[in-house]
Amino acid sequence: MKIVKSIDELRKDLKGYKLEGKSIGLVPTMGFLHEGHASLIRKARAENDIVVVSDFINPIQFGPKEDLKIYPRDLESDSKLCEDIGVDFIFAPEASEMYHDRKTFVDIEDMSNNLCGAKRPGHFRGVCTVCTKLFNITGADRAYFGQKDAQQVAIIKKVVFDLNIPIEIIPCPIVREDDGLALSSRNTYLSKEERKAALCLSKAIFKGEDLAKSGSSVSEVLSKMKEIISSEKLARIDYISAVDLSTMEDAKDFDGDRLVAIAVFIGKTRLIDNFIYRR
Ligand code: PAF
Repeated sequence: MKIVKSIDELRKDLKGYKLEGKSIGLVPTMGFLHEGHASLIRKARAENDIVVVSDFINPIQFGPKEDLKIYPRDLESDSKLCEDIGVDFIFAPEASEMYHDRKTFVDIEDMSNNLCGAKRPGHFRGVCTVCTKLFNITGADRAYFGQKDAQQVAIIKKVVFDLNIPIEIIPCPIVREDDGLALSSRNTYLSKEERKAALCLSKAIFKGEDLAKSGSSVSEVLSKMKEIISSEKLARIDYISAVDLSTMEDAKDFDGDRLVAIAVFIGKTRLIDNFIYRR
């Protein structure tokens, strides 16, 4: 496994494999890898000749009051996890390598106006820009994303479609701790008490999913989920919404594919979770 910091070097290395007709799988990450990332990397390993994991904390997807400065990082332990799974390249550039004299961004209309896009202005512009750069730099055939960031997956799929980027976007299931908490690098911010409180997210998600499957309406599902989260003292709801899975517009019924998504502050830590309901 090779750790590469330069765009030119990665391009040169991957070009050789492309010329040999080898397929390239990309797993875009911001590092501090956990079992959720490992599941994406294993899938990429199984489906491609060459696997690239990008390990880059993308500064332009963080708002001015967000956690960029304290976002956890540990390239050594990330390297070990990648090596164990059989990754070929870790791409870990400095911010100055990815962005200098930047004037061009990739942005998306409408789909970023709801959920995390509404709460984190500029976030998806940063995500779309860095992902487009990573797709161009690697020339990957497939890219793997976790469904925990379901809005991100829907948006990236649309960017790839709209800009005719020749890459397949592969969504992968949410990975959870045994007690239900969805894995996230941000779980590391939680104190012991907050970690316990954070279970209100998965409890609300599981209950909401059961209710949706057994025929409850969107408003019944959302109000039960709100009740579960509000009963937790340390929790503060950022949003709870049901949206159309492809447009990200608010949905009033379950007459189509829906994303039911939540963002909740546990203390200062903002966590997200969701379920997808398919008719
Ligand atoms: O999901 C993430 O970790 C990031 O948003 C991504 C896709 C790596 C872009 O920085």
